[in-house]
Amino acid sequence: MKRIFTVITILISISLIGIIFIQISWLRNMIILQEDQVTDKIQQALNIVGDDLRQYKGNYMSLNRTGNPNALMFDDLTSEFLKPVTLGKRFSGAEIDQKIREAFKKVKLEKMNYEFMLATFSPRTDAVARAERISKNFAREFEDSVNNLQRSYPLFAPSGSAAENLAEDEVLSIVALNWKSFAVKSLKYRILTAVIFTIIIITAFYLTVRTMLRQKKLGEIKNDFINNMTHEFKTPIATISLAVDAMKNEKVLQDRTKISYFSSIIKEENQRMNRQVETILKASQLERQEVDLNMQPLHVHKVITDVVENFALQLHEKQGSAELSLQAANDLINADEVHFSNLINNLIDNAVKYSKENVPLKIKLTTTSSDKLLTIRVEDNGIGMSKETIKRVFERFYRAHTGNLHNVKGFGLGLSYVKTMVEGHGGAVRVDSVLGRGSIFIVDFPLYKEKA
Ligand SMILES: Nc1ncnc2c1ncn2[C@@H]1O[C@H](COP(=O)(O)OP(=O)(O)OP(=O)(O)O)[C@@H](O)[C@H]1O
Ligand SMILES: [Mg+2]
Repeated sequence: MKRIFTVITILISISLIGIIFIQISWLRNMIILQEDQVTDKIQQALNIVGDDLRQYKGNYMSLNRTGNPNALMFDDLTSEFLKPVTLGKRFSGAEIDQKIREAFKKVKLEKMNYEFMLATFSPRTDAVARAERISKNFAREFEDSVNNLQRSYPLFAPSGSAAENLAEDEVLSIVALNWKSFAVKSLKYRILTAVIFTIIIITAFYLTVRTMLRQKKLGEIKNDFINNMTHEFKTPIATISLAVDAMKNEKVLQDRTKISYFSSIIKEENQRMNRQVETILKASQLERQEVDLNMQPLHVHKVITDVVENFALQLHEKQGSAELSLQAANDLINADEVHFSNLINNLIDNAVKYSKENVPLKIKLTTTSSDKLLTIRVEDNGIGMSKETIKRVFERFYRAHTGNLHNVKGFGLGLSYVKTMVEGHGGAVRVDSVLGRGSIFIVDFPLYKEKA
């Protein structure tokens, strides 16, 4: 069972890690692909604008051909005069901007920010000669090749055209701003869904493992409980069986005092079993919240003194002592007397049960009161509890393993009873303990309020 559990956990963990890795690499590929696509689209947009502009390249804008064949014979001067107007002169910055915006819209990148420059280009030096139209931040953004993508489109006069050697070469450059994050952003819903589903899977896995662990622990606790119960019942059953056997003996049958001695043992053991059955029944009642509290004004100091007196014999056996420090100025609370004394009884019972073997047991009971609260502290110098135990002592059936080690038996119900009762009275209980040093249980009760 334990094996299967571990195997399942490991298998699921491995496949989870695998799935996460695959998802990450899949996402990464998707981003790269998307980046490529965006690059392509930017190039496409630039091509659209470039192709459009090129149509005007080398055309004479305002000069009409006269049809006079002489007009085709330029000398140097006329050729300078007739030099086709550059695109930069023909189009305003706003017009070029408009063209680029439309092109970006066509390739579905309407939200892309960009800067542009239209410049004359010197083929001899292979460099930009003079910027004609330039957007505001082009120069700055052009430098940033980490975030931005630069693309250029050469605008040379069509070869064979009249103006081939006359028109100045030009170039259109655009800078697409933050294009990578643009690519990632367009994937954000897909990335988000992937992340959300991964988180859901991990959470579900975590919850499953936690539930399985809890179930396992619960199983162990139930097992412990059954073992304890069997043990608790075995002793009286064995004793009764011995007593009955003894009574079958002829000699004993003759002796009335012996008969009454053995039958009193049987009676006692019977009562003991009865008490145990009661405890278990009470626990299941508590679980179903079926307890009626019979609330009355109650003087706490009196109850505590009475309960401690009942422990006199047990304390004497253990060479222990109980010290009472009942300082509360006001010791009147509203409580069910039976349950309240049971609860104090349980705390002292634990202090006696979980004492150290070679050290004389010292129990100290303190009460204090404030405006609204009465506080009872039960302190012992016993074996104390580990952090894990402190966290869980109030759970039903929980018993620290040292409890078994010292062969102290119990059902692990005492403190869960205490907690239920204290809370039923509107109070609170907490514990402070150091392993090997001792424990302190602190119970707060609201003080009795006279009803107006
Ligand atoms: N004063 C204490 N010092 C050290 N350990 C304690 C003390 N009180 C309780 N514990 C630990 O807490 C566990 C739960 O206590 P709880 O009273 O609920 O059950 P129990 O004493 O084992 O059984 P029972 O139902 O008979 O009271 C104990 O088994 C013990 O390990
Ligand atoms: Mg107990």
